[in-house]
Amino acid sequence: METLTLRPWSEGDLPLLRAANTAAMTAHLNGPESERQVLGRHQRYLGLDDRTARMFVVIADRVRPVGAIGYWTVEWRDEPAFETGWFVVPAAQGKGVASRALALLIDDARAHPAGLRHLVAFPAVENAASNGVCRRAGFERASSLAGEFRGSELTMNVWELDLHPHRARLES
Ligand SMILES: CC(C)(COP(=O)(O)OP(=O)(O)OC[C@H]1O[C@@H](n2cnc3c(N)ncnc32)[C@H](O)[C@@H]1OP(=O)(O)O)[C@@H](O)C(=O)NCCC(=O)NCCS
Repeated sequence: METLTLRPWSEGDLPLLRAANTAAMTAHLNGPESERQVLGRHQRYLGLDDRTARMFVVIADRVRPVGAIGYWTVEWRDEPAFETGWFVVPAAQGKGVASRALALLIDDARAHPAGLRHLVAFPAVENAASNGVCRRAGFERASSLAGEFRGSELTMNVWELDLHPHRARLES
């Protein structure tokens, strides 16, 4: 996979969401969503407000969709922050795609006009691949927490990345 690029989510990307909704792909996400939920997710991605959230399709070699990655605004430690999430289709897994896509996303989030300081991610504790993606991208594991996800309990690691470390020095 020579080139990896990100492009905004679009009308034609529903099949990619279905590819990410199998039992194997959702093994660490409390299982698949209903068709109705998948359609709702697609509409949500199409209607995102660019001032607070972006969802991208990961494109290999400028033609082939191989996954998705995005960020949205959450409350984190009493201030707004970006949370991020991702998936890579099975045929493209284990080749560094998620790590490279996250590097592109971090650049985008750093340049986002909202200028939020932190990027956070909450992969399930057992999701070795997704925790590996956070580690590889230089996130710090802050803690772990148990919470409700898609209607059932999930124990997640809490990873955070400072998007503007220089700001810390200026503010100190
Ligand atoms: C998580 C996911 C996106 C990883 O995608 P990927 O492109 O295969 O990841 P990468 O190849 O960039 O690997 C990232 C790191 O995880 C490690 N890794 C990848 N797959 C792994 C696995 N199955 N078990 C353990 N480690 C794994 C890699 O070695 C790499 O670590 P390294 O950089 O230290 O070598 C992919 O497995 C996926 O889509 N899973 C299903 C959906 C999901 O769980 N999404 C995340 C929700 S939080």
